[in-house]
Amino acid sequence: MGSTATKEGRAQELLRLKSEYLVPCVYHFYKDPPVIVRGEGCHLFDDLGRQYLDCLSGVAVMSAGHRNPEIIGPAIEQILMLQHTTTIYLTDPILRLAKALSELAPGKLSRSFFCASGSEAVEGALMTSVLHTGKPRIIATTNSLHGRTRWAMNATGTPMWRTDPFPPDDVSHVPFGDADALADELARHADQTAAFIAEPIQSNGGINVPPDGYWQRVRELCDEHQVLLVLDEVQTGFNRTGRWFACEHFGIVPDIMAVSKAMGNGFPIGAFITTDDIAQSYTRPGASTHGGNPVNATAALAVIDCHTKHRLGQRAQESGQYLLEQLTDVTGQKTHLGPPRGIGLMIGIPVINADDTPDAQRCDLILERLKDLRVLAGKSGPDRNILTLMPPLTIVRQEIGELIDAIQEATA
Ligand SMILES: Cc1ncc(COP(=O)(O)O)c(C=O)c1O
Repeated sequence: MGSTATKEGRAQELLRLKSEYLVPCVYHFYKDPPVIVRGEGCHLFDDLGRQYLDCLSGVAVMSAGHRNPEIIGPAIEQILMLQHTTTIYLTDPILRLAKALSELAPGKLSRSFFCASGSEAVEGALMTSVLHTGKPRIIATTNSLHGRTRWAMNATGTPMWRTDPFPPDDVSHVPFGDADALADELARHADQTAAFIAEPIQSNGGINVPPDGYWQRVRELCDEHQVLLVLDEVQTGFNRTGRWFACEHFGIVPDIMAVSKAMGNGFPIGAFITTDDIAQSYTRPGASTHGGNPVNATAALAVIDCHTKHRLGQRAQESGQYLLEQLTDVTGQKTHLGPPRGIGLMIGIPVINADDTPDAQRCDLILERLKDLRVLAGKSGPDRNILTLMPPLTIVRQEIGELIDAIQEATA
């Protein structure tokens, strides 16, 4: 804690700096935000020493928990040995990681391109689909989020994240979960369409699980029209939903898959993974300065080991099931909460008015109360009224009990 700390903490001073020096698009949660200074397991701590149960995991990043020694240990050793070179030199971690990913990824996905973020992973996946098919257009879904680079933002369907006032005319959007709408769009434009991109389960769009049969039908439609299926597993990947990749729930394999977030557990890494055949279309020089950096690649390898050793997929499935059951009891007693939904530890609870319309204001109030009860949660959905829970996958029953108690109280 710096010398300027008072018993009120440093929030006011940091808010002043933020209002002066950050681009105003960078929003924060809470009217009275805590200053987070430390993380440990499922908990965050503020500058006044208060402990919070982290139920957002830095937006689905810290799946293996904060300050996990099994991940930061090897990364620190790597920092001390060799931090950075770029891919113009041969280094070992990037190649071991690519091999490990090809073993984890479904079907014939075997070749990776590494970058530093989810947006770049999506951008690379879309570029590769255009290169491979020789077709210029993309179909994406409403209420999606794919990133902030120009193409990823244009593929994004949620209006609040579509900041570009002049989006290029190369993406059309169909409703998520509606295979007939995709079939109609493909019937009209398949000859111009390189890929259909979507999240297997929409996360920022409000924890939307598509209806049974949707993904199988989408896979068939893409094959029928020779359009590639790009899955954005940036948020759903790495056991968030109880499987390494959410597409495994639906028994389908994409042609290209974008990953990031929990893959690095706090180290900035992303990748797109594709088949040998598709990868052969991308032969012009391509480089990402930080992509596959030895430190981030070492951390990602440690993440894979940690998830495997501690069976985090199975834990996410079991804890998620238990949390969903408990939440169903709570929401059943409250008129302003809809039924909870989700898979694994990706759960959303609609906050609604008496006539079932979204109540974003009450959602904000609940988030604020939860924070005062020392639980940090999130919100999602086009109306920002879906209370969103994505704790580290290492969360234990007692912590889930604390979360349920806090939700009971905050929604009273
Ligand atoms: C599904 C999905 N794709 C892509 C992105 C963009 O990732 P990044 O913020 O690392 O660029 C996000 C970010 O939240 C996301 O949720």
